[in-house]
Amino acid sequence: MTLSFQLNGDRVDLSEVPPTMTLLDWLRIERGLTGTKEGCNEGDCGACTVMVTGEDGPKALNACILFLPQLQGRAVTTVEGLAPPEGGLHPVQQAMVDEHGSQCGFCTPGFTVSMATAQLTGETDHDLTLAGNLCRCTGYAPIIRAAEAAMEAPAPAHLPKSFQMPVDDAGAEAEGLAFQPETADALATWYEANPEATLIAGATDLGLHVTKAMRDLGQTAFLNRCADLKGIEVTETEIRIGAMVTWSELLPEIAPHHPGLAAMLRRFASVQVRNAATVGGNIANGSPIGDGPPALIALDATLHLRKGATRRSLPLEEFFLDYGKQDRAPGEFVEAVSIPRQPDRLACYKLSKRFDQDISAVCGCFSITVSAGTVTGARIAFGGMAGVPKRASHVEAAIMGKPWTLATLEAAADEWARDFTPMSDMRASAEYRLKAARNMLTRYLLADLGQDVDVLEVEA
Ligand SMILES: Cc1cc2nc3c(=O)[nH]c(=O)nc-3n(C[C@H](O)[C@H](O)[C@H](O)COP(=O)(O)OP(=O)(O)OC[C@H]3O[C@@H](n4cnc5c(N)ncnc54)[C@H](O)[C@@H]3O)c2cc1C
Ligand code: FES
Ligand code: FES
Repeated sequence: MTLSFQLNGDRVDLSEVPPTMTLLDWLRIERGLTGTKEGCNEGDCGACTVMVTGEDGPKALNACILFLPQLQGRAVTTVEGLAPPEGGLHPVQQAMVDEHGSQCGFCTPGFTVSMATAQLTGETDHDLTLAGNLCRCTGYAPIIRAAEAAMEAPAPAHLPKSFQMPVDDAGAEAEGLAFQPETADALATWYEANPEATLIAGATDLGLHVTKAMRDLGQTAFLNRCADLKGIEVTETEIRIGAMVTWSELLPEIAPHHPGLAAMLRRFASVQVRNAATVGGNIANGSPIGDGPPALIALDATLHLRKGATRRSLPLEEFFLDYGKQDRAPGEFVEAVSIPRQPDRLACYKLSKRFDQDISAVCGCFSITVSAGTVTGARIAFGGMAGVPKRASHVEAAIMGKPWTLATLEAAADEWARDFTPMSDMRASAEYRLKAARNMLTRYLLADLGQDVDVLEVEA
């Protein structure tokens, strides 16, 4: 395949590049650009952060789980490209010096690229923008001070705020190893004929298959250029989310409709991961601890699948058949997911060992409607409680038509064990999970009754 992108201002054209080579390996091994560091090689630490700019603006991404074809037509800026060509330091680099934001320095390139990206986009919530960058020695206060100080300086003119390079696709399909369709139609035709192929969306799961499990993904198709899988469409009846919409793109769009989902997404991985990770990938991977499916199931979402010219839709919860098993035929892919428009009753509670950048032990999502003090509708869905994202059907049935009170929840207490037999693992014990799930419903009720239940607001 032919791959064209810009690297620190210069055009790069690559042919016959292995499609699952990561940008991090390519930068360090092939180009000798060793400023971008390898810390964890699994998307957790941010030492490998690079800025990738497309038509939709600059984004911080983890180079360790970014495959080269995902860069097609875009501009990459590494730490080596931050400083202006005419000399001197980028304002974030100067601020890191002035504020003593670096000690051993291993994390510093990643931090400075995240900060430079935030400076370019004008994002000022640095607890958010730097949540995906870990530092083991300096402490975060000087780093945050540096980020704040840098915001006062203008962003250097050499860094692109938007970028799109025309690319020559000739031969991409013929070569067969990495197909990059531009439409869902082209993908549908190709995937039906090549059902054994691996579809690559944001690669935040698949990247680890390569870097950690050392797997060969075989024949691949990259979906990042399928424009018609990317949109979010809000109509009077539904919110339709294309499979290739990233969690970063969804967050501001869903906030006015379902702020509880937006608040939970703020804690979904980190900025770097959310900038790549897609809604479709989070559903298709069938993970029992994914955060998207429980929220979408609580919102009564419908999944839209496509194989060749044939489309079908099903309630999202029916897609998850068993651990590692989904209702998806060979050659069939996720095209979109849609949420019916509804009065917002959603709350999502994510329980994990760290506030930021952590996988859920339990993720409970609740949408319960109440009329004149009586429960008139209940959709309760969990991640981390079973081998699949799963509704609490017995609990829902037990509270339906009952008064919306603590007594009703007490009376339904035994139903939890009928709905769930969670496992014990490093994240939580089975007993803890069951108790936490029950407590989350109590929290939802108390919040609905006006009590302050936000644990971040509790003071000792
Ligand atoms: C550091 C880190 C933190 C994370 N934190 C969280 C978290 O807090 N919460 C959470 O839920 N997840 C988390 N994840 C997991 C991951 O980011 C999400 O599951 C993400 O949404 C996956 O999307 P993707 O586009 O990257 O999928 P990919 O890795 O590209 O693909 C995942 C799977 O889905 C398939 N696939 C992708 N798109 C389609 C499609 N349209 N049709 C059919 N099959 C498809 C692929 O073939 C593959 O099997 C984290 C991952 C990392 C690395
Ligand atoms: S090396 Fe840790 S996120 Fe990439
Ligand atoms: S300065 Fe050492 S890890 Fe951050």
